[in-house]
Amino acid sequence: QNGVAPLSRFEPGHQVDYGRFLEKLPLLRKALGRPLTYAEKAFLSHQEDGQYAKVTRGVTQLQLKPRRVACQDATAQMALIQFMSAGLDASAVPTTVHCDHLIVGRDGQEADLPGALDAHGEVYEFMASACQRYDMGFWKPDSGIIHQIVLENYAYPGGLMVGTDSHTPNAGGMGMAAIGVGGADAVDVMAGLPFEIVAPNVIGVKLTGKLSGWSSAKDVINKVAGILGVKGGTGSIIEYFGPGAATLSATGMSSITNMGAETGATTSIFPYSANMARYLESTHRHEMARAVQFAAHELCADPGAEYDRVIEIDLSTLEPLINGPFTPDLSTPISQFRGKAEEKSWPSLTAGLIGSCTNSSFEDLSRAASLAEQALDAGLTPKMPLLLSPGSEQTRQTLQKAGIMDVFDKLNSKVLANACGPCCGSWDRTDMAKGTPNSVITSYNRNFTGRLDANPATHVFVTSPEMVIAKVFSTDLGFNPVTEPLTTDSGKEFRFQPPSGHALPPGNYELTDHVYTAPTSDRQSVTVKISPTSERLQRLAPFAPWDGEDFIDCPVLIKAVGKCTTDYITPAGPWLRYRGHLENISNNTLIGAINAENGKANSVRNQITGEEGWGVPDAARDYQRRGFRWVVVADHNYGEGSSREHAALQPRYLGGAAIIAKSFARIHEANLKKQGMLALTFVDEADYDKIRSEDRISILGLADLAPGKNIRLRVSSSPPGEDGTEGVSWETEVKHTLTSEQIEFFRAGSALNLMASRLGS
Ligand code: F3S
Repeated sequence: QNGVAPLSRFEPGHQVDYGRFLEKLPLLRKALGRPLTYAEKAFLSHQEDGQYAKVTRGVTQLQLKPRRVACQDATAQMALIQFMSAGLDASAVPTTVHCDHLIVGRDGQEADLPGALDAHGEVYEFMASACQRYDMGFWKPDSGIIHQIVLENYAYPGGLMVGTDSHTPNAGGMGMAAIGVGGADAVDVMAGLPFEIVAPNVIGVKLTGKLSGWSSAKDVINKVAGILGVKGGTGSIIEYFGPGAATLSATGMSSITNMGAETGATTSIFPYSANMARYLESTHRHEMARAVQFAAHELCADPGAEYDRVIEIDLSTLEPLINGPFTPDLSTPISQFRGKAEEKSWPSLTAGLIGSCTNSSFEDLSRAASLAEQALDAGLTPKMPLLLSPGSEQTRQTLQKAGIMDVFDKLNSKVLANACGPCCGSWDRTDMAKGTPNSVITSYNRNFTGRLDANPATHVFVTSPEMVIAKVFSTDLGFNPVTEPLTTDSGKEFRFQPPSGHALPPGNYELTDHVYTAPTSDRQSVTVKISPTSERLQRLAPFAPWDGEDFIDCPVLIKAVGKCTTDYITPAGPWLRYRGHLENISNNTLIGAINAENGKANSVRNQITGEEGWGVPDAARDYQRRGFRWVVVADHNYGEGSSREHAALQPRYLGGAAIIAKSFARIHEANLKKQGMLALTFVDEADYDKIRSEDRISILGLADLAPGKNIRLRVSSSPPGEDGTEGVSWETEVKHTLTSEQIEFFRAGSALNLMASRLGS
């Protein structure tokens, strides 16, 4: 027993070596001069060998070497296109592409899948061939959702990976530090370059007690989201510890770490527990289950390790929670939910959705099925459509074998393809006219306006799969299945008993490796095809390098007010089809952002012509045609939500110079920097109010751009008149977080340009 195992059965040539991990820990403790949290062990043991210096949380720029990259199809297209444009030959680390986002959910797997294969054939073919050419694994359409496949096949305690999806931290349930990144960061790792990140703070969540009755892992993260809010995790890792952690199943812990993304956290992580080894065994990773024992005693925080903040949750007293609508941190215990629903006049329930990358495990669905059986036995039927998004073909077949899928058949539920479906807006919803106020209840993770069905009047509530199943038996949104009865068709009173289920299937998980295509040994003979006339795929031309001049008199494309998530900057849904074509997808740029001036989306004044009612992308293109660089002025947490780098690429492509915001979400800020855009924050937030949409903004002193040095802005509210009258302007300062390396991205035009020039391609 030497602590060595293959990273996965698909990559026998790559190994984890827990012996090396153990050797590094004393060096790290010595360098830091203090006990380590578990998150620090997982992060810092992945620095280049020998680079163990003092680390200050929130300050030190780390250079890490992740062991894996995973890309979902909506972001993989652009990541692969960027990888190709950098002239690289093969991925330097194990990399996989997962076809999960593009499949639209409507009538169920059998009906929906052929349509998806037909609609996206060109894109799938491109990604499959690029994977073959560049030595990457390809998970075919309907194989499953990226995070479930990673959990079932690749995640391991103490590992470090990046993924081009914001819920990559799902793997933290298996003790892996898993970080959501933009495609450009992923390309760096695929090129063998280090992944750069500021050493995060560490928020500790101490779990005591044990879940029972209706309470589930989802309630833990709904509670944490309620405490931290959508920005509270920014710049931090959420590390769980305490005796309660070991009582949770591996998949339950993954549901928790998955939704840490809803707090803006860099990632979330659990220390090793025996339940992780059981899950490894059950998913056929026996060698890894044995190897991890070698370091099990160190796959946790050191005694005395300090957290920047500690939250305590007693699992024994945790009540089921329902979060929403419109934001995942609006958390309401079930006992108070009826009162709140009535007070706020939230509309009736019209659909239930379970599954997704967050909650589609054997445990989730077996517990949900136990409730469904109770209701069916009593003669109750669901009062609304129920949709189920299985997380993977492996889990779906395992559930099938255990008879659990039969229960969902009896419920008349629509079992969708093993894919994201409604969760990413790929829901062709036919039962509700757009604009009709209604509520849906889901075990998914995200509930921003319009996220699931593109209907801004749909109120989405996020809860456990158990709660979703119980609640579809009544359209009364306030119904509390824990305490309130239902009436059957024959007039009898029915009360749910608490759910029950199993963490793992009776035998092992089914093996479904036919849904995977391994890299080929004959890579050089593979041609990656992109048709020059394609409307889905477009080769990337490098952005122009910075010309050495300040940005003078930039028009404000939009002064956005309130939330401006990546869904507002580049919506998903029907736009997913253009994720590989920058020109075409740029037509949705910022169409969801709310104009502070008129309260409308996608309606701005063209600041050059003075005409009102321009679409935001149209105005951007008009400024670009006229030779103006433009800026966006924005509120707090600009770019929260997903990791999609299109939210940075598109503004760059349309001629944006800078986003000036009160604050940024981490991944989006990194993405902007990678694309050579300036991400600036107000020194004095009151400046946000002072700047008017019609002002022109000059960004000055760029030749002296330096880490930690503020940048001067000149805001011109009226230009000098031709008659000699003086213009009116004022100056202020903005901050940035660019490192020396990131300043080089800006100068080169993008990180990719810089990489290509360094690699001589
Ligand atoms: Fe997919 Fe929704 Fe997860 S979009 S990756 S199922 S958050």
